[in-house]
Amino acid sequence: MCGIIGYTGPRRVVPVLLEGLRKLEYRGYDSAGLVYFLDGGLVKHRAPGKLEKLAAVVDEQIGVASFCGLGHTRWATHGIPSLDNAHPHSDCSGNLVVVHNGIIENYSTLRQELRARGHRFTSETDTEVLAHLIEEYLTDDLPAAVRAALARVDGSYAVGVLWAGAPKTLVAARNHSPLVLGVDAEASYMASDIPALLPYTNQVIFLDDREMAVLTPGVITYQSVDDGRSLRKQVTTIEWNAAMAEKSGFRHFMLKEIFEQPQAIINTVSGRIVPDTGRIDLPEIGLADEVLAGIERIALVACGTSWHAALVAKYWLEKWAAIPVDVDIASEFRYRRLLINERVLVIAISQSGETADTLASIRLASALGARVLTICNVVGSTMTREADGVIYTHAGPEIGVASTKAFTSQLAALFLFTLHLARVRDAAPAEQLAELGQALIDVARVIERELPLLQTRIQVLVERYYDSRDFLFVGRGLNFPIALEGALKLKEISYIHAEGYAAGELKHGPIALIDKEMPVMALVPRDSVYRKSISNVEEIKARQGRLLLVGTQGDGHLSSLTDDVLYLPEVHEELNPLLYTIPAQLIAYEIANRRGCDVDQPRNLAKSVTVE
Ligand code: G6P
Repeated sequence: MCGIIGYTGPRRVVPVLLEGLRKLEYRGYDSAGLVYFLDGGLVKHRAPGKLEKLAAVVDEQIGVASFCGLGHTRWATHGIPSLDNAHPHSDCSGNLVVVHNGIIENYSTLRQELRARGHRFTSETDTEVLAHLIEEYLTDDLPAAVRAALARVDGSYAVGVLWAGAPKTLVAARNHSPLVLGVDAEASYMASDIPALLPYTNQVIFLDDREMAVLTPGVITYQSVDDGRSLRKQVTTIEWNAAMAEKSGFRHFMLKEIFEQPQAIINTVSGRIVPDTGRIDLPEIGLADEVLAGIERIALVACGTSWHAALVAKYWLEKWAAIPVDVDIASEFRYRRLLINERVLVIAISQSGETADTLASIRLASALGARVLTICNVVGSTMTREADGVIYTHAGPEIGVASTKAFTSQLAALFLFTLHLARVRDAAPAEQLAELGQALIDVARVIERELPLLQTRIQVLVERYYDSRDFLFVGRGLNFPIALEGALKLKEISYIHAEGYAAGELKHGPIALIDKEMPVMALVPRDSVYRKSISNVEEIKARQGRLLLVGTQGDGHLSSLTDDVLYLPEVHEELNPLLYTIPAQLIAYEIANRRGCDVDQPRNLAKSVTVE
């Protein structure tokens, strides 16, 4: 979703803004713009389309002697992607501009009112009302005018405001949309996300809802949006570095992140399995063993790929910790009757920790008395601040829109939690749990070894599949969610229509789609449901479906069914989802690459979905 960058300090601002916007590209956008302070006025540039367009427009101004400005990438909500709708948006005088991420829900009423008072609008956006509203209240105190305007606004916002009357000053405010500030001795920064700040500082401050900040070079002050009361905020040190958010020689971030998975899993596990005893140590979990022992039910809530991780975790938690588990898509969870109370543990799974629906779900769950745990990749993100406890995945920054390493790290974290809960609830023998912990480490090593071989094999295979119109992915048990994940990966980055199914469900509809044109990637490890899976594969073959099988090394039966088999080493059956995800990701990646798609920034998608 929209990306915001703001800077005030000693550097020339235009390159800082452009670089910041580049770092935020992965959030998804369809137009971009920037504004800077110069010679007592504001200079604004905007362009629909990719950042290169904006860069071309500002080309001659790149070295301009301006040291304070704002930039924005827009993911359209109200109004088509166009030059007029691109941010920044100005007031009538052009002396005040706003960039915004979020949705102003009462914009239409405000717009009518402002129009009646003589304001002239030049876009269809909800954001523009904010610029005019601030103009209405502005005398000589910008923060006071911003507060007065925000008091009239319903909805979500992360905003940056620049006014010609206050050179070197930026005002930032947040409600339900992410905004992070960066500090160093001489400069102050604002951004939608951490990677945009990493080239300059790892000292960040997360704004909370209804908080505002006034940024001047090297100094930031904080106040409440509601009453202007000044606030003290804590600085968080981010362990990531700028190099982690670079492609490092890989063609795409997605490919780099696929190859980072073994390390991401190891980092997520490391230090959390106590040697000798195999006990799990989760220091930030925030829930005492006695509390966990008293939990009667778990509700897992997430969106997109994180939801697929939740689906896998249901199998693990029910089997090993013997606890009933519900899994919900967050956008559904938040709008139905919730039978939630203090004996329910709600686990929100989120790479970003900022997804609007997941965040709303944990707020609802907390209000109903539930304990809330989040499995999250971004230190200090909103979910980690609002939940009772956190299990961080240590995947490092994930930039590719299609989530890969965050997913397998979530699986690793959820597996660790399963082992922890199983012990607390005395649901499985300690030796067995220790063995499972070791198996988790082993699978990371297997993935590391297999990745290059798999990629080479898949690069050959895709020649037969890349021009398909449709694709099915099937799996059973623990691999059913991986089939869903494979289909999601393929559709989001290659635009091939793809569906994931539980293999046993084929007969209830999807088998009607099978003919010699239909590729079916079937995940068929030698596991406890192997025979059932093979029967389903035989049914596909009988109808001439094009089978691409992924199974266990040494299973000669698979190559009697099709020429296209990807063999994987045998790992502990419980860990198959981590291993079988890899070929599904690589197939999607190589097909999309072969089709010439924009793998890291697929059309219409956003990395972090901060509006509902
Ligand atoms: C977007 C991203 C997906 C991600 C989902 C949930 O759709 O494109 O990759 O899985 O949001 O995001 P979260 O940050 O909550 O895991």
